[in-house]
Amino acid sequence: MYQKCLACVKKIKGIIGDFVPETAVVLGSGLGGFAEGIDVKFSVNYADIPGFPVSTVKGHVGKLLFGFYNKKPIVAAQGRVHCYEGYTPAEAVIPVRVLKLLGADTIILTNAAGGINENLNPGDFMLITDHISFFADSPLTGKNIDEFGVRFPDMSAVYDRKLIDIALSEAKKLKIELKEGIYAQVKGPQYETPAEIVALSRLGAQAVGMSTAIEAIAAKHAGMRVCGISLITNMAAGIWKKPLSHNEVIESSEKAQADFCHLLQAIIGRI
Ligand code: HPA
Repeated sequence: MYQKCLACVKKIKGIIGDFVPETAVVLGSGLGGFAEGIDVKFSVNYADIPGFPVSTVKGHVGKLLFGFYNKKPIVAAQGRVHCYEGYTPAEAVIPVRVLKLLGADTIILTNAAGGINENLNPGDFMLITDHISFFADSPLTGKNIDEFGVRFPDMSAVYDRKLIDIALSEAKKLKIELKEGIYAQVKGPQYETPAEIVALSRLGAQAVGMSTAIEAIAAKHAGMRVCGISLITNMAAGIWKKPLSHNEVIESSEKAQADFCHLLQAIIGRI
């Protein structure tokens, strides 16, 4: 796996030369609009990087954009893969590890998530303060890759406290409501049953999604500073008495794009 990541890095470096992104942003479902604000210097299609996992879901493109945002050198991963597409957790976190090897020591993970807590509403942003990953297999399964981190990494503060404070204070300045909560990762691709949502709620989760906890684990393992932001696109199953649809998820993320971009811009400006 390490060799695979190095091969991706080699291919990408052949394109971007000595550009070093300090911050990486992973853009979730329908949140790709952020890319429009980047002064893009290099764009690399996932499909052109040997061994890099390629997303297949509607609403997900697959590109790494290297450039300047708010004068900072960044890389944005537009589109991600999920384990339900058939990738192992270790394969699904190749992008995170490659971004680290390219020089990014901070990563902002964004996603679309279902709201479990009744205080959340579709269109809300939730800063991830912690996660529950029990229901997903660990991306660190298998022989440890010592080049990234230790066998038994500490997960007592996955989401960087300083980044949490920055995000909250920037949101306040922008008058964007930023709630806080715990994100639970499930395997999907089916949405949860109402009973599963009751169970997740009792475990302490406020939001549910299918992507981010394993990425945060890989990033933390590799010593990156992690920030996580969920866009609540829908209320989780059983909270509202209506079926869930993927279109609803895409529609609400499109509506929230402008605020989302302002918030990310402000956070990146402070990193
Ligand atoms: N459940 C799981 N993943 C999701 C949801 C949901 O309700 N909404 C967006 N991603």
